Amino acid sequence: MNIKQFETEELAASYAFDRIAANLDNGAKVFGLATGSTPLSLYRKLSQSSLDFSRTTSVNLDEYYGLAANHPQSYHQYMEQNLFQYKPFENSYLPNGTNLEVNSEIQRYNRILSEHPIDLQILGIGRNGHIGFNEPGSDFTAHTQLVNLTESTIQANQRFFESADQVPTKAYSMGIASIMAAKEIILLAFGTDKAQAVRDMIQGPVSEDLPASILQKHPNVTILLDKAAASLLN
Ligand code: GLP
Repeated sequence: MNIKQFETEELAASYAFDRIAANLDNGAKVFGLATGSTPLSLYRKLSQSSLDFSRTTSVNLDEYYGLAANHPQSYHQYMEQNLFQYKPFENSYLPNGTNLEVNSEIQRYNRILSEHPIDLQILGIGRNGHIGFNEPGSDFTAHTQLVNLTESTIQANQRFFESADQVPTKAYSMGIASIMAAKEIILLAFGTDKAQAVRDMIQGPVSEDLPASILQKHPNVTILLDKAAASLLN
């Protein structure tokens, strides 16, 4: 693991931006994208840049089960508002939250992922160490799956909804094996809320109890931290 600590979140986002630009220059075709607050400064920089994604594909990590693409809190809308309206990709894929036929949606998304192998995957991390929506206990060999969100994730994501009971309790997510198949991974983590998960990811055992710890086994992963997120590292 390549671990970098920055004075500010903006500087970490600039580093991630430069890696994306370098990948584009080197002919990368597929970018794996994440949602949440963490990648927002990166997406702002991409949106304001002259980078051209019109010949590349994006695949997102996850989508809430039951939310339509036009639902204001769906990850489809998040991507549209924060990136795609400024930087259209040739193709952009997210799981379809309104496909309630779980097996067909899982197969559809796995097919998309095998047809579009990810060159660079952007990740955030949940307070409990989840990546995508792969909660503690997730099988490291899993590809796309329907996951039950933990109470702590529902609480954490409540801030985007009017109340906790509006947060969906399930989501489609790329599995850990899908994430690990990316050629390069960049994980961003900011703030004291993430410090414990960051420490366990980097210094703890590789364990399904802390899904992000599997990244210790990836050959090309960079962890970008601000001071607060790095504060518990030895
Ligand atoms: C969500 C997303 C993750 C994200 C994480 C952290 O549950 N599914 O992809 O990394 O939570 O979110 P935030 O960046 O808002 O802290």
